[in-house]
Amino acid sequence: MTRSLDDLASPYLRGLIPYSPGKPIQEVERELGIRESVKLASNENPLGPSPMALQALRDALPEIHRYPDGSGHRLRHALAGHWHVAPDQLILGNGSNELLELVARCFLLPGDEAVYAEQAFVVYDMVAQVTGAKKVMIPLKDFTHDLDGMHAAISPRTKLVFVGNPNNPTGTALPARALEAFLESVPSQVLVVLDEAYYEFLPPDVTPDALRFVRDGRLLLVLRTFSKIYGLAGLRIGYGIGPPALIALLNRAREPFNTSSLAQAAATAALGDVAHVARTRAVTEGGRKFLSEACRALGLAVVPSVANFLLVDVGRPGPATADALLRHGVIVRPMVGYGFPTHLRISIGTPQENERCLAALKAVLGK
Ligand SMILES: Cc1ncc(COP(=O)(O)O)c(C=O)c1O
Repeated sequence: MTRSLDDLASPYLRGLIPYSPGKPIQEVERELGIRESVKLASNENPLGPSPMALQALRDALPEIHRYPDGSGHRLRHALAGHWHVAPDQLILGNGSNELLELVARCFLLPGDEAVYAEQAFVVYDMVAQVTGAKKVMIPLKDFTHDLDGMHAAISPRTKLVFVGNPNNPTGTALPARALEAFLESVPSQVLVVLDEAYYEFLPPDVTPDALRFVRDGRLLLVLRTFSKIYGLAGLRIGYGIGPPALIALLNRAREPFNTSSLAQAAATAALGDVAHVARTRAVTEGGRKFLSEACRALGLAVVPSVANFLLVDVGRPGPATADALLRHGVIVRPMVGYGFPTHLRISIGTPQENERCLAALKAVLGK
């Protein structure tokens, strides 16, 4: 009897749709024969990495024949000081994406349930799918997590709840009080994974204090990343903050050298570059205001965002519009896969990039 590869592989892989990343600029330019395009498709930092991180990388290069410090001692201690938590409350990941994967692998078995929003970062769905757990997806309400609906969906079989705040792809944030009340109300045997990849962009009035729950020993894993405001997406480094027992458990299944020495060095330096973070915030806030107002002036509906990207309803099929924008050298993301057939997700760029994007939108939409 011969078995096909599909029969050999885990049956849970059959329903898995591979993640589709934004195309690299070079590839788009080569394919379309265009130059100087702008990539506003992956919510990266348009100012680039911190100069201090670049210097730390240069300093770390001569040692790359050595394995990294698997536990990331120096970076964990720097993060512990930064967030007023203990170093054993921190775990590093090859991007926060790896920690999403790790947490699902450590907790979910077939028959268990994971609850998350239907239009949230697609990786929650992917990591749950691979485990064979039941995926309980709750539609957004007004482009924001429906926390009541999510709470009502928690059953005795629920092991994990994923919450993205700010949410990707909508850019919306939950009111801080509502999120904190939700964290308080989730049954204590359910692990909440609070994905705060865009945390540093939050305005003070909607910044929740989730770490308070971690310090109180609640079953909560807060995920953050160096890929967004810190501009280190290519290095792949993020971190999780949770109670020591949870972190110890995740460490058991973690790959021994999951984050590189270069990533650790750059992240430690980037964490200390407050000026770069402040510059990025300012450019993001200015660009977000500019692009939102300009899109609204074109008659397009823009979801109010607190993150470094905007979800814009272009009122016509998103993929064709994104393709047309590509020909003008502007790379954005259609959002059909998220159930938004006429929306585009546009990352905030530099002022020049935002102008380019607006001009291309006007041309493509005939406005
Ligand atoms: C909401 C959210 N969470 C997590 C990630 C993963 O980021 P990284 O793995 O680069 O840390 C992303 C990346 O786009 C995201 O948008």
